[in-house]
Amino acid sequence: MCGIVAYLGERNAYEIIIKGLKRLEYRGYDSAGIALATDNQIKLYKRQGKVSDLETYTVGKDLTGGTGIGHTRWATHGEPTDNNAHPHLSFDGSLSLIHNGVIENYSSLKQELISKGHEFRSETDSEVVIHFIEDIRRNNNCDLDEAVRLALTKIVGAYAIVIIDQNDPDLLIAARKSSPLVIGVGKGEYFIASDATPIIEYTKEVVYLNDHEIAVIRKDGLKLKNIEDVPTNPYIQTIDIELEAIEKGGFKHFMLKEIFEQPKSISDSMRGRLIAAKGHLVLGGIREYVNKLVNADRIIIIACGTSWHAGLVAEYFFEEWCRVPVEVEYASEFRYRNPVIRESDVIIAISQSGETADTLAAIELAKSVGAIIFGVVNVVGSSIARATHEGAYIHAGPEIGVASTKAFTAQVTVLSMIALVVAYKKGTISETKYHELLTELEIIPEKVETALKLDQKSKIIADRFKTATNFLYLGRGYNFPVALEGALKLKEISYIHAEGYPAAEMKHGPIALIDEEMPVVFIATKDSSYDKIISNIQEVKARKGKVIAIISKGDVLIPKIADYILEVPITHEALMPLVSVIPLQLLSYYIADLRGCNVDQPRNLAKSVTVE
Ligand code: G6P
Repeated sequence: MCGIVAYLGERNAYEIIIKGLKRLEYRGYDSAGIALATDNQIKLYKRQGKVSDLETYTVGKDLTGGTGIGHTRWATHGEPTDNNAHPHLSFDGSLSLIHNGVIENYSSLKQELISKGHEFRSETDSEVVIHFIEDIRRNNNCDLDEAVRLALTKIVGAYAIVIIDQNDPDLLIAARKSSPLVIGVGKGEYFIASDATPIIEYTKEVVYLNDHEIAVIRKDGLKLKNIEDVPTNPYIQTIDIELEAIEKGGFKHFMLKEIFEQPKSISDSMRGRLIAAKGHLVLGGIREYVNKLVNADRIIIIACGTSWHAGLVAEYFFEEWCRVPVEVEYASEFRYRNPVIRESDVIIAISQSGETADTLAAIELAKSVGAIIFGVVNVVGSSIARATHEGAYIHAGPEIGVASTKAFTAQVTVLSMIALVVAYKKGTISETKYHELLTELEIIPEKVETALKLDQKSKIIADRFKTATNFLYLGRGYNFPVALEGALKLKEISYIHAEGYPAAEMKHGPIALIDEEMPVVFIATKDSSYDKIISNIQEVKARKGKVIAIISKGDVLIPKIADYILEVPITHEALMPLVSVIPLQLLSYYIADLRGCNVDQPRNLAKSVTVE
């Protein structure tokens, strides 16, 4: 969602901000803008559309100056128009602000300001914030940072904001609550962004702003204080992301690059944690509270989107290996339902970005009733990583494509390791099975590598079905969440309607949809429900549906009945999702690309959903 970039230093702020906004394009947005504070004025440029539209618009304009703020907006309050784009100006035009988040009490604040004579140039909640700060500064005759602080004590909602002042161009003020903000610390220069990707080419030294913290930044230093006006110490961390990790490296799209990175990202998620030959499986991040998991009467998994699908796979792991009941909840439903959380329950929150607003709020809710929360997160230092008691990073590296691929497989890998640690400690898994699974897990990257060889075959099938209007994905057991994930991948990036179902449920509804036009993807690898799924394939064929089957290598039965097959290496039934999802990712990618869709930035979607 909304992307924030700001710069203060000796370089040309415009160039750094435009480049940074392009690096944040993956988050999803519909308009972009920049404001520069120089020569005692604010130069403001904003445009509906892409960052490239903004660049075209600024050709020939005055773009000088070393202080500026830039923003990509994902519309919430007000349509994506030039006026609603950020940055926004104060009423007198001397201050400018960018904002990511949602201000819940903007309407009452706006009415109050209108009654004082303020006029607004946009329909956004964000513009109200800068008018409000301006009003407070005028009434209290105080410094800008104090006005920001006082305003934030009255503002209800989520925000990451950065402000510039035309009368004090050597100043950036930033603050956050529930929306991410990172400050890059250079030599006599500072960078601010929603995540580290626009910063890492300039500096690896960063400060993650905490909730309710305000940063007052000048060329000669960075000062932090909290909303109660108590100074806090900036904790400077060194991040270890390399520039190549956030570039396409010869691939047409980030999504394709990330699909192909999976042998490595899965290995990275196990690195230093698992050595099968020694029976070694240690997750350093879950040591202190691991007994809470071992003794849990129930595990509640909370997540959204693809992470929720990883949670569904984990449900099978924990139930089968640890013999503990598991509930997998959409974070957004969980938090608003007055859920029953008992002391003996343990929560696992899964999130790639670590910033998903609903997941974060669900964590806070569970924490408020005393639950212990484990995080399974990709982005190091993210809000969810910091909000949880313990956790295991998935170490998949930056995922830029909006449609999650490598994060899913790394999440499933890490969740399988957590479940195995718990099962072993509980004694609910036999030694033989435990060692068998460790061995199999360790060689999964090679099997994923083999599955990636289905690339060209997937493209041929994609070409055959690229004009379909509906798709059905069916699987059973461990492959049921994979069916859901396959359908989600397709609809996200190709805009083809797709549904995932447990194969046996087909008879209770979806079978009515099947005719000779309907492609049905079966995830039908050889597992405990193999015979049953063959019957389901027959049912589809009897109604002339077109069957695309993901099958285990060497299967001789399904090739006789399916129209198209994609053969994946054999692995343990529980680990099959890591392999069977690969051709589904490839199929979606190629269908979307052949339809000419913007694969990495699908319409209306955001990578990091920082509003409810
Ligand atoms: C958005 C993204 C999905 C992602 C979901 C949950 O919808 O487009 O790819 O699965 O958010 O995000 P999280 O970062 O919490 O895993």
